[in-house]
Amino acid sequence: MYKKVTIQQLRLGMHVHALGGAWIHHPFWRSSFLLDDPEDLRLLRTSSVPEVWIDTSKGLDVHQGKVTAHDAPEQAEPPVLEVFTPHGTDATPLGLEVAHARALCAQARDAVMEMFSQARMGQTVNMLKNSSLVNEITESVVRNPDALISVARLKTADNYTYMHSVAVSALMVALAQQLGFDEAGVHQAAMAGLLHDIGKAHSDLEILNKPGPLTDLEFAHMKHHPVAGYELLKHSVEDDLVLDACRHHHERLDGTGYPDRLQGDQISQLARMAAICDVYDAITSDRPYKKGWSPAVALQRMAQWRDTHLDARIFGAFVKTLGVYPIGSLVRLSNGELAVVYAVHKDSLLTPKVVRFYDTSRHCLTAPPERTDLSRAPHLTIVQREDPQQWSFNNLESLWQAAAHADAQAEMLAAAAASATAQQTACAAA
Ligand SMILES: [Fe+2]
Repeated sequence: MYKKVTIQQLRLGMHVHALGGAWIHHPFWRSSFLLDDPEDLRLLRTSSVPEVWIDTSKGLDVHQGKVTAHDAPEQAEPPVLEVFTPHGTDATPLGLEVAHARALCAQARDAVMEMFSQARMGQTVNMLKNSSLVNEITESVVRNPDALISVARLKTADNYTYMHSVAVSALMVALAQQLGFDEAGVHQAAMAGLLHDIGKAHSDLEILNKPGPLTDLEFAHMKHHPVAGYELLKHSVEDDLVLDACRHHHERLDGTGYPDRLQGDQISQLARMAAICDVYDAITSDRPYKKGWSPAVALQRMAQWRDTHLDARIFGAFVKTLGVYPIGSLVRLSNGELAVVYAVHKDSLLTPKVVRFYDTSRHCLTAPPERTDLSRAPHLTIVQREDPQQWSFNNLESLWQAAAHADAQAEMLAAAAASATAQQTACAAA
């Protein structure tokens, strides 16, 4: 049974199930653990964690055990029984988190590359290292879900396989949060995303890195990777659901997927989530032989695969996570201008922030490009998604990144100005 207790009621011998408060303020990251180290108890008491969920089936209850010198006096009021619910934080501005996401992507890509290379040599996957990487990915997505997801979508031919693992992991975190998973569940989803394609370590490198479409024979070879991944991980990954998601992320609801041709309810929720995140990242990424679809176009096309291939309810949550017009989408506005989406309002998915840069009636660039929050511009609406492949624009990615950066700078400037005004008012009042 889970109980929420205050930090003062926490004692050695209790089994911590989850920590309260913002994740980024936790003194350490462990999904659950037996509190048997006085130093851990001291760290928790001096942190800003307000309360803790304990699992009384795995450790002491509030009224059990002896009070020791390390334990604080219990509070008189009974603990509140609650089901664990995830909690959010105020989002870091996208423009600020993007810089961190870029650095994290580089570090994560190297770590995944090393994991693949060790797997190729027959070495065991280092789950401790993966767990720490998953934590960093999760923390970035918690700070701002759009940053890492949008940056990880940008890949080069030589790092596609590795960055794809990072991107799917980040998407799984955001989707799991949207679906209301608890902290352990989010960690599980992130891990499944990171490991889902590890079986490709056993694929023929020439086929894996082929700069062109695969022949039927080559495709048949690549279809072994979910089982290869399962076999590779089954001795080092204890979590059966993670293993299942790695094996079944290419299954389809109508039974036309692989490797086990599972149907409907036979496919676990985590595997259905992995299938959606995997497909989205694959079709929005540039490949040497094929340009990736714009995020908005990708969602539109994926909507046609609901119920046959993809779970409709989870897909709905996925769209809510990214927005109807995800960051990086090219759209046409009601005044005939083309714009790129650079920020999404989670409570108003149809009116994102865009940067307007091209006038289709005059066939010329708008100079300079103009940032507009469509939620505050009722005279302007999005009339349709545009396929970037129909236009000869280069570098739409740097356009949304520059706009997000400019927005963050403007926010900081406004905050600094507000602070200076407040101080001046205070001086005048004194
Ligand atoms: Fe795969």
